[in-house]
Amino acid sequence: MAEIDDLNKRFGVPGAVVFEAGNGNLVRAALTASQGSAHVYLHGAHVTHFQANGQGPLLFLSSESLFQFDKPIRGGIPICFPWFGPKSGDTSAPVHGFARLLQWNPLETKRLGDGSVKLVLGLQSSEATRSKWVHDFSAQLNVTVGAKLELTLRVTNTSSQAFTFEEALHTYFSVGDIKTARIDGLSGVRYLDKVDGAKEKTQSGAITIEGETDRVYMDATSATTIHDPSFTRKITVEKSGSSTTVVWNPWINKAKAMADFGDEEWPHMVCVETANAAKNAVQLAPGATHEMRAVMS
Ligand code: BG6
Repeated sequence: MAEIDDLNKRFGVPGAVVFEAGNGNLVRAALTASQGSAHVYLHGAHVTHFQANGQGPLLFLSSESLFQFDKPIRGGIPICFPWFGPKSGDTSAPVHGFARLLQWNPLETKRLGDGSVKLVLGLQSSEATRSKWVHDFSAQLNVTVGAKLELTLRVTNTSSQAFTFEEALHTYFSVGDIKTARIDGLSGVRYLDKVDGAKEKTQSGAITIEGETDRVYMDATSATTIHDPSFTRKITVEKSGSSTTVVWNPWINKAKAMADFGDEEWPHMVCVETANAAKNAVQLAPGATHEMRAVMS
């Protein structure tokens, strides 16, 4: 494909960054660092795979995922922006915003001195985005692949008025068995329980998943750890510039209701999302930039 040849000429790094046709012929970057590897689709700036050398894949990707220009990818790390969940007052707008439905552009690729590999993708406001959200912005996603996976989402207000936005790195982690896993780091934090009428509750101790779970933890700035005895591993999510953590597992019935998610896949994933949503939505002055970062290992 001419587009792929051109991308490799401009942004390919021998042995480290190769652009190729991925699922559904969507273009992805295959990143190979000295200590890990990843796949990043231009569609949605979507990381679908990361693996540190000698370990299993970190991310869950549904075997039923669609790979189409007009649909989000199910699994990996969808980017939710500029709103999280349904857009307030507009049921026709795409859930979780338009960023995961648009093609992002490569801006920079680099092999770093420590053997890790960096890819920067960008998205700017356009006619298409302004028809859904009036504000002018530019967004950048920095992906750094090494022994850890590091994502930084930068949003700049390029308009002349302040705006408010929500965002999430909607990360689907791969777990051996969600029924025996637990998530630490959110004890004492207030959350909206979206499976119980969005009631406000307080987390007590570790989170265990015993049914459909959809929780928006607010003013949650600390790191979280997923303990997964089934895979005998521990996943850590450290973050900055993020005041919301979302925890989601669809469980049995919702999994069956989702066309792009296997009926039996729910025990093997949990979303722990680095976000700014609901009361933690970000207000951005003209010319200002907000940065949200997550380091996953
Ligand atoms: C979670 C939301 O972050 O994403 C859930 O809290 C939602 O309410 C889930 O169901 C999946 O969303 P989608 O649009 O990718 O099916």
